[in-house]
Amino acid sequence: MELKNYTEKAQSFFKMLPKDWQESIIPFWEELKASTQVYVLMENGALVAGGLLFSKCPPDMLYYEKEAKVWFKKGYFYLGFIYVDETKRNQNLGSLWLDKVKELYPNNGFWLSIEDEKLHKFYIRNQFEKIATVKNQDTLEESIYIFNP
Ligand SMILES: CC(C)(COP(=O)(O)OP(=O)(O)OC[C@H]1O[C@@H](n2cnc3c(N)ncnc32)[C@H](O)[C@@H]1OP(=O)(O)O)[C@@H](O)C(=O)NCCC(=O)NCCS
Repeated sequence: MELKNYTEKAQSFFKMLPKDWQESIIPFWEELKASTQVYVLMENGALVAGGLLFSKCPPDMLYYEKEAKVWFKKGYFYLGFIYVDETKRNQNLGSLWLDKVKELYPNNGFWLSIEDEKLHKFYIRNQFEKIATVKNQDTLEESIYIFNP
């Protein structure tokens, strides 16, 4: 399966996302697209997985902007909106997407944040480590994970 850069066709990736995720990216896309890339996995011509690589702080992470700047300066991408088609989950596609992105940028690190503890196992299995816990704008706890090149 091939990783494709879909930055120019971002809207077709956004269409596969849940409504609330769409609302937190589509209105900001014009402003973000110069510093953000979309990568997808295709299977028989259909989009099955994808995610975004940010090289600037996304709008939903502004409470973490100061710390984020340090990572961006070091060339780490922020990963967000990682999504696998519901009918295709638990078939390793999420891990494959991460592997392919790491392969494409062997000299860059990656960081991300999660609210759902269930995802801990997934990122640990994909060589990320938990480095911090922060409170987001809704004062909910979020965990920050990092992958070093
Ligand atoms: C999280 C996600 C990208 C994983 O992709 P995937 O292709 O199913 O993952 P893989 O097959 O590579 O790995 C499977 C592991 O992912 C985790 N996982 C899979 N589905 C999950 C779900 N619905 N919720 C939480 N974790 C899940 C589990 O740890 C699972 O391991 P296990 O089988 O030992 O329990 C996918 O489930 C998804 O799109 N979820 C909804 C969107 C989301 O939460 N994205 C992450 C944002 S940070």
